[in-house]
Amino acid sequence: MILLPSSWFFFWFFGLFQLGSMVYPNESLEDSPQKKMGRGKIEIKRIENTTNRQVTFCKRRNGLLKKAYELSVLCDAEVALIVFSSRGRLYEYANNSVKATIERYKKASDSSNTGSVAEVNAQFYQQEADKLRNQIRNLQNANRHMLGESIGGLPMKELKSLESRLEKGISRIRSKKVSDNNLCN
Ligand SMILES: *[C@@H]1O[C@H](CO)[C@@H](O)[C@H](O)[C@H]1NC(C)=O
Ligand SMILES: *[C@@H]1O[C@H](CO)[C@@H](O)[C@H](O)[C@H]1NC(C)=O
Ligand SMILES: *[C@@H]1O[C@H](CO)[C@@H](O)[C@H](O)[C@H]1NC(C)=O
Repeated sequence: MILLPSSWFFFWFFGLFQLGSMVYPNESLEDSPQKKMGRGKIEIKRIENTTNRQVTFCKRRNGLLKKAYELSVLCDAEVALIVFSSRGRLYEYANNSVKATIERYKKASDSSNTGSVAEVNAQFYQQEADKLRNQIRNLQNANRHMLGESIGGLPMKELKSLESRLEKGISRIRSKKVSDNNLCN
């Protein structure tokens, strides 16, 4: 088997697991092949020595593939794992098929996007509904005041303006009646 240094890791975890909970460096070290081989913890930074880097890539890649397999079996999780080495060689594991899991991933992330869009829309319409409710309440109050109802709380200034608007309205109505009567005669 050709040993290649690592560069990119892609994870797709479904079911019980989320990416964020899988990648604490302390946790991945706990289970790393290196630890099991009794070498102790190493600092997580790029390994400069090419030979060491290739050896570590091979061991950790195999450890990761094994972990992915165990996760899918132990926990009935659908898992797809893709690793590209720094030289572009592909390694993959999927309990089902990588393509099928990627399709599922696309659907799941699409529907979660739709979910957040729907949430934003819901907020917008909620605000619109609140505005319209306010407008309706104001119009209903104005209408009641025009009928002389619910005017107990109105200050004198408002009462005067209401009175003058009503008087103007009444005089317009009366003059319309007069002109209509004249037309009929
Ligand atoms: C690893 O670190 C995370 C966050 O710092 C912590 O919540 C978690 O308990 C740690 N896990 C182990 C095995 O030490
Ligand atoms: C890389 O590490 C190996 C094993 O530890 C060692 O034999 C070799 O000399 C190192 N190479 C360089 C360039 O440091
Ligand atoms: C992979 O895991 C999923 C989710 O548990 C399951 O539905 C599916 O049957 C599994 N696929 C295989 C090939 O075991």
